Amino acid sequence: MDFRNCYEDDAYAAAYAKLEFPGTYYLAFRDLPGLLSRHVRGRRALDFGCGTGRSTRFLAKHGFQAVGVDVAAEMVDRAHTIDPTGDYRMVSDGDLREFEDACFDLILAAFTFDNVPTRTQKVALFRELRRLLRADGRMVNLVSAPEIYWHEWASFSTRDFPENRRARCGDPVRIVVTALEDRRPAVDVLWPDDAYRDVFAEAGLQVHDVHRPLGRPSEPYDWVSETTTAPWTIYVLGLQEGGAEGSGAVGC
Ligand SMILES: C[S@@+](CC[C@H](N)C(=O)[O-])C[C@H]1O[C@@H](n2cnc3c(N)ncnc32)[C@H](O)[C@@H]1O
Repeated sequence: MDFRNCYEDDAYAAAYAKLEFPGTYYLAFRDLPGLLSRHVRGRRALDFGCGTGRSTRFLAKHGFQAVGVDVAAEMVDRAHTIDPTGDYRMVSDGDLREFEDACFDLILAAFTFDNVPTRTQKVALFRELRRLLRADGRMVNLVSAPEIYWHEWASFSTRDFPENRRARCGDPVRIVVTALEDRRPAVDVLWPDDAYRDVFAEAGLQVHDVHRPLGRPSEPYDWVSETTTAPWTIYVLGLQEGGAEGSGAVGC
C-alpha cells in the first residue's frame, strides 16, 4: 500500500498544534494517569510519535522526564515553538540509535501506530522500542479502535467514508477530526485487536493490561457514541519473558 503520513504537512501540523484534549480526545487521556501510576515505576519517558508535543507535555505534567520523537519535521517544529525548553527530536523512520538500550521506564505511543502501515513495519518499530525499555519498564500503546472509523463522535466524523466499514486489517481508513480547523481527513490504517496482539508477541512484548475508555453521561461533553462504544484501545505492555514468539495466525 502506498501510504503517506498525513502529518508531514505544514497546514495540518499548524491545525494539530492548536489541539488540546477536546471531547473524544479527553477520553483518550482521562484514564492515563491512573494506568501510569498502577503500572510504571520510574520517571524516564519516551513519547514515540510526539507530534506537536501534546502527549509529551501531558507526560511532563504528570511528573515524567519526557523526550518526544517524531518523523514529521512539520510537527516537531511546532512542538519546539509551543514549548521551547522541551526535548523534541526529529528521527528517521525506525532509527532510534541515539538512545541506549534499556534507558526508559515508560514509552508512550499515543495514536502513532494508527499511521504505521504494515505488519513488518509495526513489528520492527515495536522491537526497537522494546530495546529501549528497562527490564521492568512499560510501553503504553494508545490506538484507535476499529469502531472509531464506523461511527460519529463528539470530535470525529466518519459519515463521508462508508467504505471504512468494509475495510480489513491493513486497509486505509479515513476520519475527519471535527475539533480541527483543517477538515481534510486523516488517513489511518485499520488494525484490529487480534492483529495488535500478534504484532506484540512477534516483537517480544507481553500484554499486561488493556483499557477501553467509555464516556460517562455526567461528563461535560456532548457524547455521541462514546458512552456505549470505546473509540480508543490502550495497551499496557512489558517485556515478554523468554523472548519473542509471534503466532503468525493473523492474516495482515
Ligand atoms: C496523531 S499524531 C499524535 C501526536 C501526539 N502523540 C499526540 O497525542 O498529540 C501521530 C504522530 O505519529 C507520528 N509518526 C507516524 N509514524 C511514525 C514513526 N514511524 N516514527 C515516529 N513517529 C511517527 C506522525 O508523524 C504524527 O506526528
